[in-house]
Amino acid sequence: MSTRDKASGKTPPPRSGVSRRSFLKSAGAAGLAASQLGLPALEAEQTRPDEAVTLGPDPVPVRFQVNGQLYAARCEPRVTLADALRDQLGLNGTKVICDRGACGGCTVLLDNEPVVSCMLLAVAAQGKHIQTVEGLAQGDQLDPLQDAFIAHDALQCGYCTPGMLMSCKALLARNPSPSRADIKTAISGNICRCGTYPHVFAAVLAASGQDDEG
Ligand code: FES
Ligand code: FES
Repeated sequence: MSTRDKASGKTPPPRSGVSRRSFLKSAGAAGLAASQLGLPALEAEQTRPDEAVTLGPDPVPVRFQVNGQLYAARCEPRVTLADALRDQLGLNGTKVICDRGACGGCTVLLDNEPVVSCMLLAVAAQGKHIQTVEGLAQGDQLDPLQDAFIAHDALQCGYCTPGMLMSCKALLARNPSPSRADIKTAISGNICRCGTYPHVFAAVLAASGQDDEG
């Protein structure tokens, strides 16, 4: 019989060294080994006891670096960073609104990246540099972004404002001259029920030394 494909007339690629028969034989052997060992035994093989760390449910010691200061506390491993900041460290500038990662109200910076702190376990934030809204002002001196929010009336009830400020702060750190489109993208995860968005755009443009041309 010819080795050429009948339809195309081309020579088919060479077969791999594994025949269908040998593959089925080896798969059967693996399946047999798995069933003989049993699933728990396989899992035990894959996770060595000395690699697994189980925390909680009781409070565990935690250490955080927030706004350049070290904090030591104890919290249950199930506690979110947002709750730890507010309830353990007394930093309640960070707001919890939806508590499910949908509104951006709880945004803080983790190693300069905005994160929704209601979706992050506090224990996982250890060893990171955390920035909250309390860290923006230097003593009585507001951050220029905060000044711009005030000057441009970029808040009404103010509930979304801490998260909005932190998203905008992260934007300006990575892009000192953002366009209106850049600002829209940066705050796309921050919901303002009062509809202050045009004022936020104006404030961020002003803080970056740009005119708001609408
Ligand atoms: S409170 Fe965290 S995203 Fe809404
Ligand atoms: S100012 Fe009220 S939710 Fe934004």
